[in-house]
Amino acid sequence: MLNPPKKTIHDIDVEGKKVLVRVDFNVPLDIERNVVDDTRIRGALPTIRYILDHGGRPILMSHLGRPKGQVVESLRMGPVGKRLAELLDYPVLTLKESIGPRVQQAIEENPDKVLLLENLRFYPGEKENLADFSRQLADLADVYVNDAFGTSHRAHASTVGVTAFLPSVMGLLMEKELETLGGLLEEPARPFVVVLGGNKVSDKLGVIDSFLEIADSILTGGGMCFTIIKSMGLEIGHSVTEDDQLAQVGSAMKKARKKGVKVMVPSDIVVADRFDKNANYRVVPTESIPPDCLGLDIGPVTVEKYCSILNEARTIFWNGPMGVFEWPSFENGTKSIACCIADADAVTVVGGGDSDAALRQFGLEEKIDFVSTGGGAAMRLLEGKKLPAVEALADR
Ligand code: 3PG
Repeated sequence: MLNPPKKTIHDIDVEGKKVLVRVDFNVPLDIERNVVDDTRIRGALPTIRYILDHGGRPILMSHLGRPKGQVVESLRMGPVGKRLAELLDYPVLTLKESIGPRVQQAIEENPDKVLLLENLRFYPGEKENLADFSRQLADLADVYVNDAFGTSHRAHASTVGVTAFLPSVMGLLMEKELETLGGLLEEPARPFVVVLGGNKVSDKLGVIDSFLEIADSILTGGGMCFTIIKSMGLEIGHSVTEDDQLAQVGSAMKKARKKGVKVMVPSDIVVADRFDKNANYRVVPTESIPPDCLGLDIGPVTVEKYCSILNEARTIFWNGPMGVFEWPSFENGTKSIACCIADADAVTVVGGGDSDAALRQFGLEEKIDFVSTGGGAAMRLLEGKKLPAVEALADR
């Protein structure tokens, strides 16, 4: 699937080695700085355990948020290290720096701990991919493992630059993500049904283009479907729209017809009189969206139609909610579709971000075969584009 195939952690010997592991611990924290969603930390556990079980010493590094090259106290890695220690059931030492003599010393003095470096983005060299910063990271270890699928679309010092200085392979999470998501574009069991939602159609046109080559149906919802509905000449009231994308949407629909792929828009919509969780709402046919209303969810007829298609599917990929699922009045579309996907007799794959949050809200995460830890990275991979951090790893 990878062309050329890349080396994984199975291809190297980590025994007695210091292993610098790029993880994506960019996780949400609440106001008291507790980790709210630890999916990404859990995702990295198999690689960390593999290194420990094979006699290696993991030195972990990640970014957290977007501190713009300077120290931001609220974005220190401390709470992440604490959660990691609980999940791993192993001592974790979280450092206050990422490079330099004190870090070197801490590594030498703590051979029985997993080390977690400070937020990489406190250093301007990280995002600028500066060779000096990459070399200083590389100086900490003997080998480099990239397990940060969620950041693999970024060409930064810790994802790309460092590979110039150390033998570089991918970790187990990265391998699983590439295999599962990449597999969707190869030989999915059919029918292959794609469900796309979320706010912006501009974020989805790349994957739509890609899925038009391989999917049997694409079911749309969320804010993005209103630009498609508008491109069909229908009134959408105050619903969210990207008018500068209408021409591209038109071309995608033309391609869909040519390829024989069904791209479906909702046949009924839950419209509200304002964008507010307490707004007055009602269900209307898609052709009759009133000019003074906006659509905030897909309607029950659409749910029924989409679910009957999902029930027949053998492969399902879902990215993006069907409506404003955070508000009870507008959660039904997303919840119902998530339930249908969870119950389907199909291989089910969910692309990170909001769909992942929706699955957690409805307690359905465990019923999905694979939930990606990557938002932007997953979309980029599914667009058929190269991921710079993967490209930089050693060929097999
Ligand atoms: C993500 O959350 O998508 C990744 O961690 C990348 O973060 P970034 O968009 O700030 O580069």
